[in-house]
Amino acid sequence: MKKQLFLFSLIVGLATSCSDSKKAADNETPSSTLSGFDQKETQYYSNGRRLYKTICQNCHMENGEGLGRLIPPLAKSDFLKNNRADLPRIVKFGLHGPISVNGVEFNQPMPANPKLTDIEVAEILTYVGNTWGNEVGSFTTEEVISSLSEKE
Ligand code: HEC
Repeated sequence: MKKQLFLFSLIVGLATSCSDSKKAADNETPSSTLSGFDQKETQYYSNGRRLYKTICQNCHMENGEGLGRLIPPLAKSDFLKNNRADLPRIVKFGLHGPISVNGVEFNQPMPANPKLTDIEVAEILTYVGNTWGNEVGSFTTEEVISSLSEKE
C-alpha cells in the first residue's frame, strides 16, 4: 500500500514538472542578445509573438522561414535589417511588387492588416525583428506612428 502511494506521488510529481517546463517554453523570452530588453520591451516581444502566430505565421511559418519562392523569409532577412523605417507600413498596409530578400526575388502580394493598432504593429515588429537571428532592436509606438504618417 505504501509503495503504491509512493508511485502515485512520483507520477503526479513528474506530470507537474512536465507542465511546468511547457509553461516556461510558452513564455519564451527574447534571445540572449536581447538581455538588454527592459520590462516593457519584453512585454511587447511576447505580445508580438502571440499576434505573429495568429496573423503572420500562416504565410511566414512558425520559424520565420517563409515558403519557397512564394513567401519571403523573415528569419535573418536582410530586407528587414535594411528597411526598418518601412516595416510599420508593410505590416499595416501590406506590400506588393518585386522585392529581393537574401538574394532571392519575391513578387506576391502581402495583404494589409488595417485593423492593427499602432501598439500592435510595434509589438509584432519587436518580436519579428528580434527572433530567429534578427537583431533589429525593439520598436516603440511613437516610432510606428511617425513612420505611418510619413508621406511617400
Ligand atoms: C497571405 C500571406 C502573408 C501574410 C499573412 C503575411 N505576409 Fe508578409 N509577406 C508576404 C509576401 C508574399 C511578401 C512579399 C511581398 C512582395 O513580394 O512584394 C511578404 C513580405 C513581408 C516582409 C518584407 C520582406 C521580408 O521577408 O523581410 C515583411 C517584413 C513581412 N512580410 C512581415 C509580415 C508580418 C509581420 C506579417 C503579419 C502581420 C505578415 N508579413 C503577414 C505574405 C504574407
